Amino acid sequence: MNIKVKAHASVANVVCAFDVMGFALEQPYDEMELKLTNQVGTINITHIDNYQLPTQPNKNVAGVALHAFLNAYPEKNIGFDLIINKKIKPGSGIGSSAASAAGAVVAANQLVNNYFSKPDLVALAMEGEALASGAKHADNIAPCIYGGITIVRSLSPIDVVQIPVPNLFVCIIHPQIEVKTAEARKILPTQIDLKTASAQWANVAALVAGLMQNNYETISNSLQDFIIEPVRKKLIPNYDELKIACMQAGALGGGISGSGPSVFMFCKNEVDAINVEKAMQSIYTNTTIPFETYITKIKK
Ligand code: HSE
Repeated sequence: MNIKVKAHASVANVVCAFDVMGFALEQPYDEMELKLTNQVGTINITHIDNYQLPTQPNKNVAGVALHAFLNAYPEKNIGFDLIINKKIKPGSGIGSSAASAAGAVVAANQLVNNYFSKPDLVALAMEGEALASGAKHADNIAPCIYGGITIVRSLSPIDVVQIPVPNLFVCIIHPQIEVKTAEARKILPTQIDLKTASAQWANVAALVAGLMQNNYETISNSLQDFIIEPVRKKLIPNYDELKIACMQAGALGGGISGSGPSVFMFCKNEVDAINVEKAMQSIYTNTTIPFETYITKIKK
């Protein structure tokens, strides 16, 4: 028995909701094919892409997630053969490792008649994702598994809240530099003062309302981050300039996608998105850093 799945890229944090909010992207996505075998407890991984990712199960995020799956599954007479065609560049900041982990457990679950619930799958995929980021967070995994926009209200127990998807375009620039999530987490503050926290959760609450009401002004006003962006923006060359240019070109707002280096912008229509993409390109063509840009939508 085998199954093919598409595991979509995602944007985590959504500017102000660090480790909590995320949304899935229509493009890009990884293609994965999983086969159920009777090689008890054995996981074989083949990558048919050019990223040279490790294929030993304990060093591959999908392998670690499948291992967690096999440990939690009560019947001990199965194994898996996994073929991954990765289209989401590793280290790009749009949930490449989460897609591998989430895609693997979603596919595995379908092969065992959906034994596990969606929150169970989030927990299992998180084991794999932790290998890449050095910490457990589900803000990429949850939208990858549930689709749309998700809020991870709690990790223990897993509680994921979905909100309706507004009609937004998403513009993304991926500067081809390396930002390791584990490193980008080490530089974050461990304490914040109450006034800053209060300003931040005001934005988180208003952003959720704005997204649910498709209210562009509220979305735009709420896309502010007082805690993470001031520290992490130093990892992304020309960040302030890039953001200003995008806003002048008509973006509603945006910021670092996950831990970077990709930067995303929400736009209210395709014309604005095309202008914002051009603005992104104009800033980065003045640097020596290679980059990619693209326009996509939130995957429902
Ligand atoms: N919330 C995580 C972080 C996402 O910002 O570190 C990593 O992609």
